[in-house]
Amino acid sequence: MPAFTFVLNGETVTVDAPSDTAMLWVLRDMLGVTGPKYGCGVGVCRACTSHLDGDAFNPCVTDVADCAGRTVTTIEGLADGDTLHPVQQAWLDGDVAQCGYCQPGQIMTAVALLASNPNPTDADIDEIENICRCGTYVRVREAIKRVAASS
Ligand code: FES
Ligand code: FES
Repeated sequence: MPAFTFVLNGETVTVDAPSDTAMLWVLRDMLGVTGPKYGCGVGVCRACTSHLDGDAFNPCVTDVADCAGRTVTTIEGLADGDTLHPVQQAWLDGDVAQCGYCQPGQIMTAVALLASNPNPTDADIDEIENICRCGTYVRVREAIKRVAASS
């Protein structure tokens, strides 16, 4: 079985897996990194959203072979030691989560958005496609704006 090496949350890891294994299963089942959630498996719900070389991506529809030699960040890699990422802190401050299932993906999407667009408009935020069955969209929007206003 081929081996694939990549950087995951600051550490170099190597996994043996068929090259077309979805990265979501590599993360969750092989590496025990369960922040990226399984919702649809077809790139629609965005519950699995993580970062590949700093850009939001959906590991449920990304082969492990496509991550080789690259940098993968999940929600587990966002905080700086005991210090939460400002977006995580804004989520806490705003009590954004309800059941929480979609929230790692929501946060990773928000971090990527704010990295490329530090002061997003409502229209920019409307382009976020992460689904929340609990309907936390208003609080997600408020938290993103709070981070933008404080940066
Ligand atoms: S599980 Fe990846 S987009 Fe739905
Ligand atoms: S907080 Fe429950 S699905 Fe979003």
